[in-house]
Amino acid sequence: MPYVAQTQQLTSNPSGFQDALLAWYRRHARSLPWRDNPSLYKTVVSEFMLQQTQVKTVLPYFARWLAALPDFAALARAPEAQVLKLWEGLGYYTRARNLHKLAKALVGMPAMPRTPAVWRELPGIGPYTAAAITSITFHAPAAVVDGNVVRILARLTADDTPHKDGTSAVKAFTPLADALLNPAEPGDHNQAMMELGATVCLRRNPLCTVCPVREFCAGCRAGDPESYPRLAAKQMEKLTIVRGWCLHRGKLLLHRIPQQSRRLANQHELPSAEQLGIAAGKLKTDTLLATKKRGITRYQITEQIHVVSPPKTLPADHVWVPVKDLDSITLSGPHRRWVRELLAALA
Ligand code: ADE
Repeated sequence: MPYVAQTQQLTSNPSGFQDALLAWYRRHARSLPWRDNPSLYKTVVSEFMLQQTQVKTVLPYFARWLAALPDFAALARAPEAQVLKLWEGLGYYTRARNLHKLAKALVGMPAMPRTPAVWRELPGIGPYTAAAITSITFHAPAAVVDGNVVRILARLTADDTPHKDGTSAVKAFTPLADALLNPAEPGDHNQAMMELGATVCLRRNPLCTVCPVREFCAGCRAGDPESYPRLAAKQMEKLTIVRGWCLHRGKLLLHRIPQQSRRLANQHELPSAEQLGIAAGKLKTDTLLATKKRGITRYQITEQIHVVSPPKTLPADHVWVPVKDLDSITLSGPHRRWVRELLAALA
């Protein structure tokens, strides 16, 4: 059945879909620390942490965060260094800075805002987070739409439209997400959609046999749910970064990202050959200590870490950090993992 007809059938009487989804959620939802005894603060912190990050990664961070900063007032008072330290390893540090700014803004308000439109004016809050926070905490009728929800809706409707990218797919499916939202239980409905996307309607090998809304799903009926949504393949660009590993007299040379930098300010990372004034082309394979691959947005990055000699003079924005003090400074992204791994390998 084409997309339009399937959409009409679903939205003309959405209560069957809504009821099946909600009943399943109430029985099968994972117990998560922001779901059990929820509060506005827990919901906000978890939604910030869960942007671009999986639940299992977030869990230990969430527990440490709540123990150290139990409410908006504590967060608003906290020094930025503490906030960034608690976030260390979660990545996308703008989220931590925005959450900090958000707490400062909220504690100055006479009452907590209750509508998505007002929340969207606040730091770090996009349409998804505004809908999640207000639907879960205040029962606002706002549907969440992200990659997981797009996947569910594209499969339900067997949507053949080729979408240019995730952003345009989110835009295309927002009206359907709104039409399917359960007006009596918008928060649980939204969380049920998140849960379905995370545990059943998986990107690869979806578990259609246990899906509570299988009877509404045109993609499942067509026998090829995995082929939805139709998204143009991301164009990836390859990038190589050469870095120096300089361990001297029990101290590791690190680059400290300047305070005024927009990204990762005040965090430490292994210095690049360029920062150390070493021509990357001059480094030979006999000094290559490790090769690490990672993806950031549309970049496929290969990081080559070479053992280098200590520089004669310390370059600007570089510091020698005693190995025993590494745990008390903030290392950006995967650098903590690499440093730990290399120190263990060299011990
Ligand atoms: N992803 C984003 N928000 C979430 C939530 N509240 N529960 C589970 N996964 C999520």
